[in-house]
Amino acid sequence: MTVSTTGTAPETMTGATAEAAGAAASQHGIIGRPVARIDGPLKTTGTAEYAGDFHLPWMAFAVPVQATVGKGTIRSLDVTAAEAVPGVLAVLHRGNMERLYRAVPNDPNATVSETRPAFEDDRIYYWGQYVALVVAESLEQATAAAAVVKAEYAAETPEVSRELEPFAGKWNTVSTRGTVDAAFAAAAVKVDQTYGTPAETHNPIELHATVAVWDGDRVTFYESTQGVVNHRNAMAQILGVPRENVTVVTKFLGSGFGGKLFPWPHCALAAVASRKLQRPVKLVVTRTMMFSNVGHRPVTEQRFRIGASADGKLVALRQDALNHTSLVDSFDEGCGEATGYLYSVPNLTVASALVGRNVGSPMAMRGPGAVPGLFAMESAMDELAVALKMDPVELRLKNDATVDESNGRKFSSRHLRECLETGSAKFGWKQRTPQVGSMRRDGKVLGWGMAAASWGAYRFACATTVDLNADGKARVRCATQDVGTGLYTIFAQVLAEKTGLPFERIEVLLGDSSMPEGPLSGGSWSTATVLPAVAEAADGAIASLLSIAASTPGTPLAGADAKTLRMTEGRVHRATESAGLPSAGVPFEAVLQAARLNGVSADGRSGSVFEDPKARDLSMHSFGAQFAEVEWEPEIARLRVSRVVTVIDAGRIINPRAGANQIRGAVVMGVGMALLEETVYDRRNGQPINGNLADYLMATSADAPEIDVTFLDYPDFALNSYGARGIGEIGLAGVAPAIASAVYHATGVRVRKLPIRIEDLMQA
Ligand code: MOS
Repeated sequence: MTVSTTGTAPETMTGATAEAAGAAASQHGIIGRPVARIDGPLKTTGTAEYAGDFHLPWMAFAVPVQATVGKGTIRSLDVTAAEAVPGVLAVLHRGNMERLYRAVPNDPNATVSETRPAFEDDRIYYWGQYVALVVAESLEQATAAAAVVKAEYAAETPEVSRELEPFAGKWNTVSTRGTVDAAFAAAAVKVDQTYGTPAETHNPIELHATVAVWDGDRVTFYESTQGVVNHRNAMAQILGVPRENVTVVTKFLGSGFGGKLFPWPHCALAAVASRKLQRPVKLVVTRTMMFSNVGHRPVTEQRFRIGASADGKLVALRQDALNHTSLVDSFDEGCGEATGYLYSVPNLTVASALVGRNVGSPMAMRGPGAVPGLFAMESAMDELAVALKMDPVELRLKNDATVDESNGRKFSSRHLRECLETGSAKFGWKQRTPQVGSMRRDGKVLGWGMAAASWGAYRFACATTVDLNADGKARVRCATQDVGTGLYTIFAQVLAEKTGLPFERIEVLLGDSSMPEGPLSGGSWSTATVLPAVAEAADGAIASLLSIAASTPGTPLAGADAKTLRMTEGRVHRATESAGLPSAGVPFEAVLQAARLNGVSADGRSGSVFEDPKARDLSMHSFGAQFAEVEWEPEIARLRVSRVVTVIDAGRIINPRAGANQIRGAVVMGVGMALLEETVYDRRNGQPINGNLADYLMATSADAPEIDVTFLDYPDFALNSYGARGIGEIGLAGVAPAIASAVYHATGVRVRKLPIRIEDLMQA
């Protein structure tokens, strides 16, 4: 049942051999095979086109001007000097720009990240807010002109403090059962602590970028978005044009991590400039702008109260979670995402509230809610284990839930217990001695910590079209996009499975909003969402092909009952003939050629899990266990994460190679979350003072521990016929608390406010 990827053959395959293996794979073995990504060569040769790569004839370049105060009002804006810079075509601002509409609130198919369109009023809500847009013949000219726009502000002191307490506003109850306060008061053993996570900035390598081109009353966006369909719908509303007039193209993404789920104000600005000038306009958001204008994971502050009986059974669990938000949007991080169902506990309350800050609007960042929530809860569980003098794995096993106690639903497929047990065995957890600082290796102090993980499993509506063509190729089209994690390859694997064609004869066309509507790339739901729709479309196209084979005179299959025909290895043959033999039947393209058809097509469709009677009454999540080892050298104050064992229960794994790659990336991101990442705002003016890749520390290859990824591979058939859930966000969940607990085990210092700094450990 276990697919382990440490040091086994699939992981040591080169791209070329893996691809050859994929190409030669029997169609019955391609699902679940560690094939290399079909888009890999395009990326490694630099031929994959990202939004910012689109250079169109007569293109102009836009550069936004950002506010230099964190709060206040624009008193005056002098653009004379900017307009005089050679090559400047326009300087747009509130005084001269056409009106932008807002997107309809709460329209789930036209969501925007920041509801306030650029330049809507004279207020400054956060440092870096756009106040003008310069468009020029070249990027250099636009940049130079943007620098000489003179804005005067009536500045006020912004509120950007990381401390969210004392909080006097209204709390919202997210989940409740039993009588938590009384149960906590009466508990034999208690933990009552507050945990904090910082603002973290999404830093995908690809910058946000928009290229907008009008042709009459139609506009095309070459966009870096995690949702071409949503982007089209939102832009139509904001620009005041029919949806049909908007096309959004995103062929490749250099990732997004949630920051590119929905449009930001710069997208509409590029379109307005292009409409005004009747020229293509390119706007690339700089790395520094990305720290203020395109979202971040908000600061959280979470008080956890956990009460247990003396033998370690949970009796009370209370989470009061605050997160900061901007003054233009109410972004709820949802820190209680995992709290209600992870453990069995009769008395529980999760409450949350928002605290306004002079920052740009926060946005979902990998594992929103669950990731900061689990940092707090799993840290508190570790503190409880210490208080109980109980092994932390044992504590989790003892409190494992058999139903989702937040709503009474059965789990579709939950193997947290096996994740914990497998992880414990692979890590060697039994050798752990619980005393702080009691373990050593090569003169270094070792710390071992662990945490449980979970993330929701979803499926949304999806439509696809599959074509089988007389040129011998199979094609699939879907208006979704590959964030960089392997979705192109998932589509190709399904087509290869169904048709038996090698990857060279399969084309996957994604990233164009005019194709059949597919899902947003978010929440780790793309694979689970697209699989059934591609399978249905492929089956439909094959059925159509077989009936043509049976009814077309002059083919060897003419006159057969279509029901007795099959498509195998790209050939149409009688079910009685040996599948896979070159002598069996005829190549499928010969059937189409004989029938004088260009090709056959079929549509496939799958619906949202929330409307599926088989699924909607189940509780669906992925689970995991994270085990971390740190090495601590107190003499030189050096801390390093040396080893992580991660065991993931994410349904059936369609491509263990791409899947393990995602989990590894997430673990490295977790090292950054635990030890490095924090966006720091200047209290004087609200500016993110570490807004660049030199000062904003992220985990790099040198910080990456040895990582052992294990997938349990239990299919979850309630979610789709392939049994696949999603991979990605689950890999980050639980990593930071496992590291924080390992740090405690090594040093005796319990850091409750991330990131863990060397200064925190000097008290050791
Ligand atoms: Mo993810 S935070 O849903 O892109």
